[in-house]
Amino acid sequence: MKILIINGPNLNLLGQREPGIYGSESFDAYLPGLKARYPQVEIDYFQSNVEGELINKMQEAGFFGGFGGIVLNAGAYTHTSVALQDCIRSLRCPVIEVHISNVHKREEFRHRSLISCACLGVICGFGLDSYRLAIEALTIEK
Ligand code: DQA
Repeated sequence: MKILIINGPNLNLLGQREPGIYGSESFDAYLPGLKARYPQVEIDYFQSNVEGELINKMQEAGFFGGFGGIVLNAGAYTHTSVALQDCIRSLRCPVIEVHISNVHKREEFRHRSLISCACLGVICGFGLDSYRLAIEALTIEK
């Protein structure tokens, strides 16, 4: 099974950006351990700060690419992007929305997600472990 993890805007700064909220580990440091934990899964990774690039990548993987699932942290686009919602709806594979922080404990504008309604499920608030929980959900025996 192939799974694509996509990180949206400002998540390239993980480890340095607001460490009190997002922790002090970079995604590049976290990813090898995650891959090692799921040797049976091919885990690809993509990050962009640009909304259209996230959509291009999701279409490539989830419509044409034969991926079994996408783990998406859309960052702030979560709260604003109808285009991402439409994209997720058009894919052939499930998408799990993840957030490192518990967005419901934070500012009110973060309580609304425009993409949750198009996703298989949502995981938030477990730090970087949110990504592992999403992989777990995608790989669980049905
Ligand atoms: C985030 C939460 C969003 O509200 C925020 O804009 C982010 C990161 C998270 O992972 O907790 O950039 O998606």
